[in-house]
Amino acid sequence: MKFISFKNEYLNDKKYKVLTLFGIKFRFKSKKQNQINNCNYLQTLPRLEIHVCDKCNLNCRGCTHYCNVAQEDRFVDISNFEKDIKEVAKKLNFYEIKLLGGEPLLHPNLIEFFRLTRQAFPTSKIILTTNLILLDTMKENFWEAMKKHNIVFQLTKYPPMNEKFVHYLDLIASHNIIIDNIHVANEFWLFKNPNGDSNSQEVYKQCPEAYCRQLRDGRLYICPDACYMDYYNKYFSKNIPVDKGIDVYKHSSEEIYNYLTTPKETCKFCFAKDKFKYVPWEKSQKKYDEWDGEVANEVIV
Ligand SMILES: C[S@@+](CC[C@H](N)C(=O)[O-])C[C@H]1O[C@@H](n2cnc3c(N)ncnc32)[C@H](O)[C@@H]1O
Ligand code: SF4
Ligand code: SF4
Repeated sequence: MKFISFKNEYLNDKKYKVLTLFGIKFRFKSKKQNQINNCNYLQTLPRLEIHVCDKCNLNCRGCTHYCNVAQEDRFVDISNFEKDIKEVAKKLNFYEIKLLGGEPLLHPNLIEFFRLTRQAFPTSKIILTTNLILLDTMKENFWEAMKKHNIVFQLTKYPPMNEKFVHYLDLIASHNIIIDNIHVANEFWLFKNPNGDSNSQEVYKQCPEAYCRQLRDGRLYICPDACYMDYYNKYFSKNIPVDKGIDVYKHSSEEIYNYLTTPKETCKFCFAKDKFKYVPWEKSQKKYDEWDGEVANEVIV
């Protein structure tokens, strides 16, 4: 029997150290991670999103991450990710981090992303966003890792999943994992302005995607659109300005923060939120204008 042991545990997203002395447990709140020194804290942004892969098994019309037209599957290499996420944690803090894609359940090493993200960001909310298609195939070690690293779900409920949705809720409940939120994706928004004549400051101010900073291959980007626009350009031979992102290794916290809070050329090719069109969800036909707010004809509002 062990008389003294130390362990980390998480309660309501807060990290605690647990000291067990002769069978009695003492719980201490851990020092906040990302603390530079005793009085300085890193700048905090609301959300970081990380593709574990770009491959998708559904392919929606107007995917804001352009996974329906990505020509390479790009499964993120775990050792590169380890370096990148550690470096990001030295430079910025995020209230929440979403692991997604593409469809994240396709990555064979997903649980390593859980471990490394939690290690780098002990106090952030970490969310796995999934379309659920593969949930029944997940092995016990997936569920154990969700629990161990305090990962919560964002479920996207697409029309093809309606019938089995309650089954998925039961499955998740049986493993005692928190569902942070459910996105009922009966409709998708279309927001691209092919003319590129929007006022970038104005659209950026209202943009819901601007909260979703992206990490891709050691660089940070303001949003999925700016980050993955190269897939659109390549597939359709277009030339919409692609954001180059900022190298997390070469820049200071302040430079990165400023970069991530400034509109980019790509913003000129988006409509402001009050001009978004909402259309019924459907599978992508991979047409160049399926993101285009102007051509949408089955408009809901
Ligand atoms: C890019 S997906 C990645 C994770 C996973 N494949 C999924 O669909 O849940 C992340 C979220 O973005 C949402 N999304 C993508 N494109 C959208 C659009 N045009 N309008 C509204 N939501 C969109 C999806 O419904 C999903 O909730
Ligand atoms: S929004 Fe649709 S196409 Fe895009 S990654 Fe999710 S399931 Fe795939
Ligand atoms: S490019 Fe700019 S306006 Fe368009 S989605 Fe990204 S942040 Fe928003």
